[in-house]
Amino acid sequence: MSVRRVDPVQPESFKFTAANAKWAKDQIKKYPKGKQASAVIPLLWRAQEQHDGWLPEPAIRAVAEILDMAVIRVLEVATFYTMFNLSPVGKYFVQLCGTTPCWLRGADDLKEVCRQVIGEQNQVTEDGMLSWLEVECLGSCTNAPMVQINKDYYEDLTAQSFEKLLNDLRQGKEVKPGPQNGRQFSCPEGGPTTLLNGSTSSKSKRSTSSKATPKRGGK
Ligand code: FES
Repeated sequence: MSVRRVDPVQPESFKFTAANAKWAKDQIKKYPKGKQASAVIPLLWRAQEQHDGWLPEPAIRAVAEILDMAVIRVLEVATFYTMFNLSPVGKYFVQLCGTTPCWLRGADDLKEVCRQVIGEQNQVTEDGMLSWLEVECLGSCTNAPMVQINKDYYEDLTAQSFEKLLNDLRQGKEVKPGPQNGRQFSCPEGGPTTLLNGSTSSKSKRSTSSKATPKRGGK
């Protein structure tokens, strides 16, 4: 894992909005007295969402104060989990899966598109619209290769469909999450390949089960 440090350029301060402060209080109430530190991840996540997708150092301090934790403990959490961005990200933050199934299915081609359209990892485009990062498996291997952009998955990508997706997002066009090749969810490409004619009739089930049931007494 690469070294993760807070960004050299930081805002002066961070404060939860009134709505988020109330939400944080409600989260803390979920845990037994004295165990409020258990709310550290949800609070950091909400701080990141409030701060345009990245977590500034003052937000880490603010969360530490709210939870009565040492700042270093909160910093440890923020720097350990890659879900927390420690530097600014684009309006559309692309997490590109480079793990084996996606790699075998063309993740390298997608990375090249990122380099061409966006630049190197963690760079934000001049218009502030895009940035990208390579991540490990996002659990959508059946639809490899895939990326996560903000909260949505875009799957079954090719270099062409991915480049179009990035350009559409940049131009504010509507895009559709999920498989980009017409596949339904993670069903077989081109439609179902089994259970096509209802062949699992009750008759065949009965005959199978009667053969498989041994007689009592073992004879
Ligand atoms: S390997 Fe890419 S989603 Fe699992």
